[in-house]
Amino acid sequence: MQFGGLRAVDNFEVSIEEHELVGLIGPNGAGKTTIFNMLTGVYTPTEGSITLAGVDVTGKKPYEIVRHGAARTFQNIRLFKDLTVIDNIKIAYHNEMNYSTLEGIFRGKRYWAEEKKAQQECLDFLKIFDMEDYADTLAKNLPYGKQRKLEIARALATNPKILMLDEPAAGMNPQETHELMETIHFIRDKFDITILLIEHDMNLVMGICERIVVIDYGKIIAKGTPDEIKNNPDVIRVYLGE
Ligand SMILES: Nc1ncnc2c1ncn2[C@@H]1O[C@H](COP(=O)(O)OP(=O)(O)O)[C@@H](O)[C@H]1O
Ligand SMILES: [Mg+2]
Repeated sequence: MQFGGLRAVDNFEVSIEEHELVGLIGPNGAGKTTIFNMLTGVYTPTEGSITLAGVDVTGKKPYEIVRHGAARTFQNIRLFKDLTVIDNIKIAYHNEMNYSTLEGIFRGKRYWAEEKKAQQECLDFLKIFDMEDYADTLAKNLPYGKQRKLEIARALATNPKILMLDEPAAGMNPQETHELMETIHFIRDKFDITILLIEHDMNLVMGICERIVVIDYGKIIAKGTPDEIKNNPDVIRVYLGE
């Protein structure tokens, strides 16, 4: 990905297996968010390609990529602030709903059945984060840590194959962060999905990721298991040099 004179991501090549939990780490400005922006169609890569479950999704629009099974959260929270918590999730869930516009207007039997099912399933997403009591709260009135969790719940409601989390613990205290990391691991197993997790604090991801990719100045400097990464001299240099 080239931004004018800046090669923000260079020669990045990674393949992720189904069900893997992979950490993408690197110092601030390394290019992590830019990688997510390419994977989710926010940016079209200047060169190269992206394949998702056998489908070439390079250059597709974000909503198309969501339908192919990729969901994400944002480093800077992007909720529908003036909607309730449950409505934020329902918007993400809409692809799962099966009634026609006419049935929606005339409120037919199927409309009520589908809406009831949606309400229940969206509450179930909230329960994962112990947030069902906040269903009717406006998103903007949630405490910060819960806004982050709501973003994850909303991404999950799109029924993704791969979930990409951009610094989900940013701004949380150590206790909240620890719980969130456990929840992320739990989600991967419960929904049988693949997770790509961005963090800049490498200690955070060591505990839960099976594999870690480290980038610096847009280039991969190491790939491997947490133990391999911990002992890699290039990684130590980048992190101690910070
Ligand atoms: N839209 C953009 N236009 C120009 N430069 C950008 C843009 N987005 C990111 N960058 C630059 O690309 C580099 C990588 O940024 P980013 O991907 O946000 O890093 P990270 O998420 O690892 O902190 C930075 O130097 C940043 O300033
Ligand atoms: Mg970033």
